[in-house]
Amino acid sequence: MDPIHQDGGRLMIESVAASDLAARFGTPLYVTSEAALRANVRAWRTALDDAWPDGPTRVLVSLKANPTIALRRILDDEGAGCDVFGTYELDIALDAGTPAELISVNGSTKPEALIVRAISAGARLTVDSVEELAAAATAARRLGRRAHVRLRLRPDLTDLETTSEFTERDPLGAVADAYKPGIPIDGLREALGRLDLDGVDLAGVHAHLGRHTSAVEPFRLHAQRLGALVGELARAMPGWTPREIDLGGGYSYPGDPTGRALRAAPAHTPSPAEYAAAVAGGLDEGLRASGVDPRGIALEIEPGRAVYGSAGVHLSTVLNVKRQAAPVPRVWVGCDSSEVLLSDTGWEHSRWDPVCADPVTGSDQEVDVVGVSCGFDTITPGARLPDGIAAGDVIAFLATGAYEETLAGNFNSMPRPASLLVSGDRAELVRRAELLSDVTRRDRLPLRLRDDAPRVVGVDHVSLTVDDLDRSVGFYCGLLGLTLHERGRLEPELIEQMTGMPDAEVDYADVDLGSRILELLHYRTAALRRPIASRQERPGSVHIGLRVDDAAAVHGRLAAAGFAPLSAPRTLPDDGSGWSGSIVFYVRDPDGVMLEIVERAETASRAAGTPVPVPSTLEPSGSDRAD
Ligand SMILES: Cc1ncc(COP(=O)(O)O)c(C=O)c1O
Repeated sequence: MDPIHQDGGRLMIESVAASDLAARFGTPLYVTSEAALRANVRAWRTALDDAWPDGPTRVLVSLKANPTIALRRILDDEGAGCDVFGTYELDIALDAGTPAELISVNGSTKPEALIVRAISAGARLTVDSVEELAAAATAARRLGRRAHVRLRLRPDLTDLETTSEFTERDPLGAVADAYKPGIPIDGLREALGRLDLDGVDLAGVHAHLGRHTSAVEPFRLHAQRLGALVGELARAMPGWTPREIDLGGGYSYPGDPTGRALRAAPAHTPSPAEYAAAVAGGLDEGLRASGVDPRGIALEIEPGRAVYGSAGVHLSTVLNVKRQAAPVPRVWVGCDSSEVLLSDTGWEHSRWDPVCADPVTGSDQEVDVVGVSCGFDTITPGARLPDGIAAGDVIAFLATGAYEETLAGNFNSMPRPASLLVSGDRAELVRRAELLSDVTRRDRLPLRLRDDAPRVVGVDHVSLTVDDLDRSVGFYCGLLGLTLHERGRLEPELIEQMTGMPDAEVDYADVDLGSRILELLHYRTAALRRPIASRQERPGSVHIGLRVDDAAAVHGRLAAAGFAPLSAPRTLPDDGSGWSGSIVFYVRDPDGVMLEIVERAETASRAAGTPVPVPSTLEPSGSDRAD
């Protein structure tokens, strides 16, 4: 049975009724079936293996289609890698634990930082220009690494006249050719002769046709013409043959809604086996015809929508049903979702025909399903829904697992919905819903536009300077049962920038006090650690962190009042810790008590706690605390 199916008129996502999910988690809501996701990726892996006996195969599922980390973990578990586009997706994949050698790094114009990151991590880097190839070689030599590089090529399909479902009117070949990625073959041939490729492992080639059609033939032709381009390259570089060829993504899937205007004709959705046979066959043909032996070459593909798409459902609740008799009879079914949350209604002209989550009485009528944004926001024009549909009914847009969540925006200041993972009878939140405070979090009000004074908005954290960090973590976590969130080291330069104190290297441990953090600081330089109150580097001292809503403004007021802060407000670097982006400075209160003024960038998302054993002995440090 399909993991997403109807049972007695009820829409089921595995063993859970969609309407129960809506009642429990609220709508709008993105839901993914784990069983469907696993089945989809397995189908592609098997299909590609069967179609390409010539060498190994790899399915690198396109992360952009759904970057939710829990889903990535499931695909890791299935042995599938991923295609990433740009620095942020690469970081997400590496953080999720995807092995670097199973990551295909794309990006039509790559900044140097992305090239360096990909080479350092050991990922497969696809280059899109001669300049990028040269930059990869330079970066590899500087890093003392070998860059695993593939050349993205541009097979010529300009003779393909079939209409692209992407634009709904232009010839597929012309639209594909206008797309920017890839290296024109003439410039590449010329550059290969003059570039210093020391440091580069020219492992293979890459090409991607994209989602222009569900028909199989253009994908076969694309692979065949890529094979011919490989032959040209092999002639330009005698002795070179590719070890791997990546054919990109763009394949269709059951329920694929792309191409609204072209949906009238029922489209056959080819299976993974049909696509795999076509692309593998076309490639084999193209390679052999151009004198390249395909045996031993690894074949990769990067399906995104075809893995995530049919595994996802978007749930929404009907808010009202409005009828008009004249001048034109109309029925609008207004739901609590929006084209803003199903963005492919615009991007790819997608059409989703909604289904009722539970049985609704009445005969089908033609309605426009509309969303809550102030845009035209017709999610599905001319949909067919029972005339008994009413406020409170839950409707579902099937096959929405790819791209919709990640393309969703905050138009009309709408917080984006939560994402759920359903597995059997279990439903788990894998991305929480946004709050209005998330939507407004990055706003900053210049002082001249405020009508109140900048103010302290609460205690941010409490910090203790300690003599022995392990002992203190043992005391607070092991003995008193608090949770250790993270430990790390702060380099002298940063300490000086934050506090004004030079040459101090500090180890820290953050302990969860419930709604606040207890920060334990250990100054590594033994000479600095003289136990005394009211100096921040001495064991036994306390500083108090005060949270403010505008650190720069508070700094200005303190300085003007004669309380010289120890440093300028400093934005902490994006180092992946919970402190990234916060603005801080230090200052003493009138009695010399040290205060740290903190303006938070955003609520820290802290890693799970680290268990700490109860130490067998806990000795206080020496009682000599004389100043
Ligand atoms: C290089 C590359 N690979 C894979 C994909 C995934 O495409 P799809 O989700 O249509 O399969 C894309 C999409 O733009 C892409 O640019």
